[in-house]
Amino acid sequence: MEGPGTAAPPPSAPLEGDAATLAIPLYAKARDFRSPHPILGDAKADEIVRTVSLRFEGMRTSGVPLLVVRAAQIDAWVRAFLADHPDAVVLHLGCGLDARVLRVAPPPSVTWIDVDLPEVIALRRRFYTEGAGYRMLAASLTDPAWIEGVRPGSSVLAVADGVFEYLDPESVRELLARIMARYPRGEAIFDVMNSYALGQANQRVHGAVGATLRWAVDDLAAVDALFATGRRTGAVRLVFARFLPWRYRLPFAIAYFAPRLRDAIRVLRYDFAAPSAPGTAAATA
Ligand SMILES: C[S@@+](CC[C@H](N)C(=O)[O-])C[C@H]1O[C@@H](n2cnc3c(N)ncnc32)[C@H](O)[C@@H]1O
Repeated sequence: MEGPGTAAPPPSAPLEGDAATLAIPLYAKARDFRSPHPILGDAKADEIVRTVSLRFEGMRTSGVPLLVVRAAQIDAWVRAFLADHPDAVVLHLGCGLDARVLRVAPPPSVTWIDVDLPEVIALRRRFYTEGAGYRMLAASLTDPAWIEGVRPGSSVLAVADGVFEYLDPESVRELLARIMARYPRGEAIFDVMNSYALGQANQRVHGAVGATLRWAVDDLAAVDALFATGRRTGAVRLVFARFLPWRYRLPFAIAYFAPRLRDAIRVLRYDFAAPSAPGTAAATA
């Protein structure tokens, strides 16, 4: 892939509402990069934070690098998927200013599309350059039209990192249904927050930038029901994730006995195939 490169940064970026929340994981990754033992080592996050002014007051997360652990878990699953599907289409939904495409470095045969709101993509274009296999797409995920312009393919990977929480449940259902209708088979990798975590996060981001988290998941059965033609193949609780540094593991052991902490943020992986896709039971019957 001709890599997304670096262009001249803007002096400031007045994002509002849901778009402004991209600063939360971005700052977490930059802080991780500067730490003695980085989990992600995301130099792009550090570069962006050093050169662009984003609203961040009231949005500082605790020192626990849960959002970095989340990104690392998602990266690991994305790499695993692409190892088996080197010609896939990746739809990176609500990409923000995240450098997953650089961290994962997909082969040129992959089509990688970073999708986010127009004001976010306009800012993103100052830091990333489109190239062979890499595109940025300005659209709302709730707009049914954008996916019609995306290259069809034999398999798709839909990835959303810290994004579906900002959509209402019906919008998540419709978005996943549109993706599954357009692609015969694929995977979806995304995280969910429970009601407790959603409430905590809303207290921080609503007053700070006017963003609202809307989709809480307390029971994974509600998510499973969105994948009529698929099944859940992975579920990782961030407080027990393998990327969590050892020093946090003992304190988080208490979460075994506190479901609202234990299930605060989970990363999920689903495999799906249309009934008529080659290799499915219906197609081979
Ligand atoms: C918390 S940030 C996460 C950004 C990125 N995934 C990351 O991990 O750094 C949430 C992102 O979702 C995007 N988003 C929220 N609602 C959206 C929508 N309806 N359409 C497109 N993007 C949306 C925001 O603009 C923002 O970039």
